[in-house]
Amino acid sequence: MGSTGLTGSRRMPRVSEFADLLRPRPLVLDGDRRRSARAASVGDFREMARRRVPRAVFDYVEGGAESERSLARAREDLDSLDFVARVLRGVSAVDTHTSILGRPSALPIAFAPTGFTRVLHRDGELAVARAAGAAGVPYALSTMGTCSVEEVAEVIPGCRRWFQLYLWSDRGRSRELVDRAAAAGYEALVLTVDTPVAGRRLRDARNGMTLPPSLGLRTFVDGARHPHWWFDLLTTRPLTFASLNSWQGTVAELAATLFDPGVNFEDLAWLREQWAGKLVVKGVQSPEDAARIASAGADAIVLSNHGGRQLDRSVTPIRQLPGVLGRLEGRCEVFVDGGFTSGADVVAALALGANGVLVGRAYLYGLMAAGELGVRRVADLLGEEIATAMTLLGARSIEELTPDLVRLAPEHDAAATHRGWADLSGAGFPVPSR
Ligand SMILES: Cc1cc2nc3c(=O)[nH]c(=O)nc-3n(C[C@H](O)[C@H](O)[C@H](O)COP(=O)(O)O)c2cc1C
Repeated sequence: MGSTGLTGSRRMPRVSEFADLLRPRPLVLDGDRRRSARAASVGDFREMARRRVPRAVFDYVEGGAESERSLARAREDLDSLDFVARVLRGVSAVDTHTSILGRPSALPIAFAPTGFTRVLHRDGELAVARAAGAAGVPYALSTMGTCSVEEVAEVIPGCRRWFQLYLWSDRGRSRELVDRAAAAGYEALVLTVDTPVAGRRLRDARNGMTLPPSLGLRTFVDGARHPHWWFDLLTTRPLTFASLNSWQGTVAELAATLFDPGVNFEDLAWLREQWAGKLVVKGVQSPEDAARIASAGADAIVLSNHGGRQLDRSVTPIRQLPGVLGRLEGRCEVFVDGGFTSGADVVAALALGANGVLVGRAYLYGLMAAGELGVRRVADLLGEEIATAMTLLGARSIEELTPDLVRLAPEHDAAATHRGWADLSGAGFPVPSR
């Protein structure tokens, strides 16, 4: 009983005690800084991004091809993964460093190539490369990048730079790009092979995010609700595919030229001869292809369905991982991507045997929400989450992430699927309407 005279265990609160509990956050005027500090997960950045950019832009990032089942299933499968922690292993220090393509990386991730990045934020690829450099992870600049091969190299020489290539039907043009990447000191070429044609992305078609853009009235009006985005677009240099500045035709003709359905294994052999650096082949799904690509001299493959943006109903990359690893028997490195939004996702893939994970949308959410600071924070969050998951699993190093620590639910397990989406909505992800 206190001196307040009240009965039971209650007493009158003292104002001073209440004041002690109140810890208002310091006022941060810089919006990017404020949003970055507030985000506790990639999901938080996703929600901020949704509010910051016009709907057509957000949909361009978020969407997949046709029914969008490929990406939804990739997420479902990642959510069906269960960890089996080991205990009493002395995990007072964990090390998230690993080797990617024979060089050190501070985290077992790389930033995936994503086209047209300056549409999302005025600083585009430069912001992403700076953040990758700061985080000590590689960044793959896209052929469809809005900053050029040379610009990224010049502004951020310290970042581990890869260049993503589409093999053009005009091999001379491909050769030109390959030479430019070599001259600008890019360490790896990432050949994307899952784009014989462009996937049918219905959101983009409906929103007018086609090549060339044809914005309808609804899209235009929605855009007007984001004046800062328009201001940035109209007051910075015009959007172009910066590495393709010698192109004379329309953007639509360019896209038709970029995606060559005739590309085959002979072209891969040709490219291997042209490029002395590391060669990564991205967009592989089958163990047979993986084996042939390794035999053709690739240093790594990326198990990927292009984030669900190409073939609808693609098999989930993480499900293909064990079969591909078994078939390759260590002949080349294996990365995986598609739907990775947390450090735990990454740790699970590593435990299943991947050498690394490519993240795409995760860093783009940070970019749309808060520019370079947002991308940096996404990398920090993923790093913190990876370290936490490793500690809780009893793994002190990436080498100690072994398959016995993770279980993948049987394919199309309805219960796991249901649980997966429930967890996602808790992280700020709504159940997608399909
Ligand atoms: C907006 C956007 C643009 C992309 N542009 C390219 C590209 O130009 N070249 C490429 O090989 N992959 C591209 N991708 C695919 C990514 O490299 C990667 O495979 C995919 O995003 C991984 O899935 P996630 O976004 O769920 O992490 C793009 C993905 C997104 C979301």
